[in-house]
Amino acid sequence: MSGHGTPQPLTARASGPLTGDAHVPGDKSISHRSLILGAMAVGETRVTGLLEGQDVLDTGRAMRAFGAEVEKRGDTWHVHGVGAGGLMEPEDVIDCGNAGTGVRLLMGAAATHGFAVTYTGDASLRARPMARVTDPLALFGAVAHGRSGGRLPMTLVGASEPVPVRYTVPVPSAQVKSAVLLAGLNAPGETVVIEREATRDHSERMLAGFGADLSVEDTPEGRVITLVGRPELRPQVIVVPRDPSSAAFPVCAALIVPGSDVLVPNIGLNPTRAGLFETLRDMGADLTYENPREEGGEPVADLRARFSPDMKGIEVPPERAASMIDEYPILSVVAAHAEGTTVMRGVAELRVKECDRIDAMATGLRANGITVRDGDDWWEVDGRGAGGMPGGGSVESHLDHRIAMSFAVAGLAAQAPVTIDDATPIATSFPIFRDLMNGLGASL
Ligand code: S3P
Repeated sequence: MSGHGTPQPLTARASGPLTGDAHVPGDKSISHRSLILGAMAVGETRVTGLLEGQDVLDTGRAMRAFGAEVEKRGDTWHVHGVGAGGLMEPEDVIDCGNAGTGVRLLMGAAATHGFAVTYTGDASLRARPMARVTDPLALFGAVAHGRSGGRLPMTLVGASEPVPVRYTVPVPSAQVKSAVLLAGLNAPGETVVIEREATRDHSERMLAGFGADLSVEDTPEGRVITLVGRPELRPQVIVVPRDPSSAAFPVCAALIVPGSDVLVPNIGLNPTRAGLFETLRDMGADLTYENPREEGGEPVADLRARFSPDMKGIEVPPERAASMIDEYPILSVVAAHAEGTTVMRGVAELRVKECDRIDAMATGLRANGITVRDGDDWWEVDGRGAGGMPGGGSVESHLDHRIAMSFAVAGLAAQAPVTIDDATPIATSFPIFRDLMNGLGASL
């Protein structure tokens, strides 16, 4: 929802050891896709482990507006789908709240239906670029009328006679790739999406699971994904794995708070998502994968993170960026507690997330005594070693859940408390964050 609740400040103080098990919520990317693909299948999809964060609840509400039945009974979400091509014209504006994934995937899904939909969101979402999605959707025949700079609110008039599309995604974005694939579901013939750098592949895996005819080929041009339009999607039983991007917060907190030993069970380790954990291990973190296994076609393990006083700054391989794009904010907090400089390059996308994440983290880290240098698509953090962050600063979360959680973790290992102006955005992806962290021994 795009309502502006009362800001809730949060103060994070130096904590004793963090110990115990951290059961983090379901994966945000997979949760959005479960509701959208469930709504585009014929019959009832059942989902357990759905992330009940505001972003996903907003997508659920949107799918109802498009004609699907979405309800929770007991622990299970039931989605009664209307079929690919069967979405209905919503009666009102679709408000996606804070969710870039929600709005961009919905725009894709609806773009090949012959009706108009108006989308909006909160101040963060209304500032984010949508042309990256509406440009390829125009190739199907959809027409967008938005604010200047391709911003929301925006009306997208769907194509009543869509044509299939071949599109090379110009920026590494799973949202853009997914929007094109979802639009392709209701276009005749083959829709082809090419990505030069692999991004998270949940849409491909799930579309195949729902019975779409989809193939992926690695070529010198990049990953070529071919989808045959107008499939009959079969309803699925989905168990959503826990979110590696949420696991990142208790994992990183354990690495920097003295004496900590935290187990984060059941984390999805799809290689298109696990870049942070590799990077932390490269820095010398005591982070192990226990009980590695496969669940629902995804690699899963229990993560054990222990206090790691000897981490070293590194240059993060830029080709790893897509697999850890949401984790750079929390990585920068760990970097502040490592010896030496951590260099992060090839990350221009960070500037167009829920906020400009390089700017938000650099400003907040500086306010807490850390030296940060940044340019258009890079930044560097000078580490001060374990326990070396002075803290004592006030920071702004800019309607961005990951900025708020990153500074909350920073405060647990800083010499003086860190105060965040507004912690309410955390509810978009990790509603139980504060209770979970305090349950491990944090002072939030
Ligand atoms: C997501 C893709 C990424 C990521 C976001 C979730 C998805 O965004 O940052 O949190 O579920 O497809 P981009 O596609 O903009 O890189």
